Amino acid sequence: MTDNPIIQTMLNRKSIRHYKQESPTDEVIAPIVRAGQQAPFASQLYSLLLSRDKERNPFGAPLLFTICVDSHKLELIMAKRNWQLVTNDLSLLLFGIQDASLMAENMVIAAESLGLGSCFLGGAPYRAEEIVKEYKLPKRVFPLVQLVMGYPAENPPPRPRYPMEFVLFEDEYPEFSEEMISKAMTEMDEGYLAQDYYRKGNFKIPLQGDREETFTFDNYGWTEHISRKWGQWHASPKDLLKQFAKCGFHITEVDQNEGK
Ligand SMILES: Cc1cc2nc3c(=O)[nH]c(=O)nc-3n(C[C@H](O)[C@H](O)[C@H](O)COP(=O)(O)O)c2cc1C
Repeated sequence: MTDNPIIQTMLNRKSIRHYKQESPTDEVIAPIVRAGQQAPFASQLYSLLLSRDKERNPFGAPLLFTICVDSHKLELIMAKRNWQLVTNDLSLLLFGIQDASLMAENMVIAAESLGLGSCFLGGAPYRAEEIVKEYKLPKRVFPLVQLVMGYPAENPPPRPRYPMEFVLFEDEYPEFSEEMISKAMTEMDEGYLAQDYYRKGNFKIPLQGDREETFTFDNYGWTEHISRKWGQWHASPKDLLKQFAKCGFHITEVDQNEGK
């Protein structure tokens, strides 16, 4: 596509789930975090927690970052200016999630360019209360996502993506033909099957209810995987609203009194 080294680095990135023992030094970590900070921001509504506890970190990774949406620091600064935050928490979270995500992805690319690998872990919001205790987080700090990082002990090929025509729509959003949908599904499924991705990771999501299992690792691809995720998990927002409320973020009027 292009031999631009930055784009090549981005196109070659893949999630890494096996790490060497060697721990990245502070001299390596600092520029990665600075590159993360230099991402565009709405209001720098984030904080970054770091654990170097290899024994406990997922995949035995030397570094575990927990990326938090942080309104606490903003509120401290506003108080110094004699202001109080009145913006509703849904708006604040929306911008905080964007700030934190952009920062985290900048870190991923910076790490990749220095020969490190990484992998996001999406479970943090559901374990927010636990993480709050572990890192002694004040109210108005919410653990959004975790990111393990270290020197890769594997080199899998980059994973497939939708064809660009299923992503980029100029001037008008299309009405999808059967052919377009099927092409997108085939590219994703065949791409993952060609890598034996789900068998290697033993990633098959079990079926709940009375659906009969008809898939083996020979035909279990990405579209079945994401259908099982979003067709079975977290039907109610209640658990997540509770975790937000425990951290002092109140999204609905009903949860106003939770966690106080
Ligand atoms: C928000 C988010 C949450 C994720 N959570 C997990 C996770 O819990 N466990 C895991 O092994 N990978 C997780 N991943 C990594 C994705 O599985 C991975 O990015 C995706 O399959 C595409 O593969 P690639 O990163 O190798 O291109 C997560 C990625 C994101 C962005």
